[in-house]
Amino acid sequence: MATITALPRPPFFMILFLIVLLPLACRCADPDPLQDFCVANLNASIFVNGFPCKPVPEVKSDDFFFNGLRKEGNITNVFGSNVTAGNVLVFPGLNALGISMNRVDFTPGGVNPPHIHPRATETGVVIKGRLLVGFMTTSNVLHSKVLKAGEMFVIPRGLVHFQRNVGKGKALVIAAFNSQLPGIVVLSFTLFASTPPIPNDVLTKAFQVDEKVISGIKSKFGS
Ligand SMILES: *[C@@H]1O[C@H](CO)[C@@H](O)[C@H](O)[C@H]1NC(C)=O
Ligand SMILES: *[C@@H]1O[C@H](CO)[C@@H](O)[C@H](O)[C@H]1NC(C)=O
Ligand SMILES: *[C@@H]1O[C@H](CO)[C@@H](O)[C@H](O)[C@H]1NC(C)=O
Repeated sequence: MATITALPRPPFFMILFLIVLLPLACRCADPDPLQDFCVANLNASIFVNGFPCKPVPEVKSDDFFFNGLRKEGNITNVFGSNVTAGNVLVFPGLNALGISMNRVDFTPGGVNPPHIHPRATETGVVIKGRLLVGFMTTSNVLHSKVLKAGEMFVIPRGLVHFQRNVGKGKALVIAAFNSQLPGIVVLSFTLFASTPPIPNDVLTKAFQVDEKVISGIKSKFGS
């Protein structure tokens, strides 16, 4: 139709913006800081997008150091793994810097169950042990590999991933995130231990199983 061919062409800079800048914008995680630092005032009652800053005269060197990743987490639990977080909630110096770290400890055979970080890409390095690391794409393709000490992985933002200790001894991984608070959605808890619970008939249809299978799984997670 004539009206379609008569549409004005978008200006060159607009096309450039869409092709070059938009994909970059979509890949960024936390926003860039507007000052050198902004040590979080975790007690503040007003939140903007993150935490307000502690007044500069009150900032101490200790605000920029954190020893919370020194110790192994308690791995005596159903999964045989423990995530110790080093995010803004425990290390306020990270506020507004778009970065944080975790340590994850594993017993032999321990699993960090399938989960998502909604706000961050994750990269990690195995410090100890042999770890199967895997993630699934949005096309349901599994990418996985067994890593040993010194080897690294990356989990693209928002994709479901897991780790399993396939070695004989304990395993340890140190992970880094491009967010001060990456967030974690553990599928077992999200689907089977939410408050209030997801109705069983949603889950029976979703997983194509009987109600007793669903209530059986729910009972494992205390709901
Ligand atoms: C937050 O409150 C706690 C307990 O009242 C206090 O020890 C701490 O210094 C406060 N932190 C800041 C940044 O004001
Ligand atoms: C992880 O380890 C910490 C420190 O030992 C402990 O307080 C926490 O309960 C453990 N978490 C799980 C899920 O076992
Ligand atoms: C680890 O957690 C288990 C289960 O909660 C508990 O029985 C055990 O005492 C904890 N171990 C340590 C070292 O805290």
